Amino acid sequence: MGEMIAPKGLAGVVVDKTAIAITDSEGVLLYRGYRAIDLAEKAHFEDVAFLIVNGKLPSKSEKEAFIAKLKSGFGISEDINRVISILKEKDMMRALRSLVSMYPYRSKDQDDLMLEMASKFPELISNAFRLSRGMQPLNPIEGTYAERVYYLLTGKNDPKKARYLEELMILYMEHEFNASTFALRVTASTLADPVSAFTTALATLKGPLHGGANAEILEFFDGFKDVQEAIVYVDTQLQKGEKVMGFGHRVYKRLDPRAQFVKMKLRELAGDSKVVKIAEAIEQRMWEKKSIPANVDFFAALYMHLLGIQEDFYTPLFAASRVFGWCAHYKEQLSDNKLIRPDAQYVGPTGLKF
Ligand code: COA
Repeated sequence: MGEMIAPKGLAGVVVDKTAIAITDSEGVLLYRGYRAIDLAEKAHFEDVAFLIVNGKLPSKSEKEAFIAKLKSGFGISEDINRVISILKEKDMMRALRSLVSMYPYRSKDQDDLMLEMASKFPELISNAFRLSRGMQPLNPIEGTYAERVYYLLTGKNDPKKARYLEELMILYMEHEFNASTFALRVTASTLADPVSAFTTALATLKGPLHGGANAEILEFFDGFKDVQEAIVYVDTQLQKGEKVMGFGHRVYKRLDPRAQFVKMKLRELAGDSKVVKIAEAIEQRMWEKKSIPANVDFFAALYMHLLGIQEDFYTPLFAASRVFGWCAHYKEQLSDNKLIRPDAQYVGPTGLKF
């Protein structure tokens, strides 16, 4: 068979079919045929999660049954809480990845197991944060999925802010063959169980070129006194050939529709404040100098900050949303599976004598 050499990073290579989501360089993002932005604006997290996982919007009874399945994952056992207290891990992505990997694979219905695991993420993060800092876990409130998440992360029952958070969580939910999802599909293709596949995906999402980017924005942004300082920072980074986190995307070369939506919401929250002015100035400078658009993580970090969410939770919150995309991709991979195992072009020595 003739050898095909793929471009570095598989850029531009179509590796399989999917019916879950589509993106394009001009800024299209559809979830199962619907504009993700419309869903973020008008739907609830539970409806969109059902859509992503099952391929259609739920009827009333389907939604109730779905919520009941999510609830089956609520509550963290004493054993896991004890492990958290022993681990005392301060990095919440490392904690989440380790804790998820410890869950036993029970041979119950795989779809139910995935939903049960997915709905544990917010409480795992919350407990990991609190117990590792000597605080007791929160007793979660009743309410929508997003209200519960908002409470678990902030200790505040605030439906209005929870709704803002829900919009971001919907936009974080799915993104076709991004790095963590692709990694999950590789694991699924070996017929490994869903818990192992989630662990792979979490480990991949953590990296700063992927989900970890949102945890790096405040680090440089917080220090800016004014727009001028922010522009000097951008120029200096570019002169040094270094990246400005929260910018650039493998697919969206002109605009990331999620970033534009979150920017609009940021304005709604913060008006014409210093944060918004500086953020927009950085965005403009990056476009003028390099024609690189802001990605969702740039505005998402500022948005979560304004919603009163600790920086430690930024990437884990992304994971708690994306995990529903992972559920759909695990199912899709297994519905028409072939082991994912590419070839490599060997460039090392040969014929050495031992
Ligand atoms: N800041 C400055 N320059 C950037 C940049 C950024 N954030 N992102 C890309 N570039 C530049 C690269 O330096 C490169 O320039 P060159 O052609 O002059 O060498 C060019 O744009 C292409 O970048 P490359 O990293 O090869 O593109 P990619 O498609 O492989 O990378 C990302 C996509 C996301 C990995 C990349 O844009 C990035 O590292 N962004 C910062 C991390 C981030 O925000 N990740 C979250 C993504 S949602």
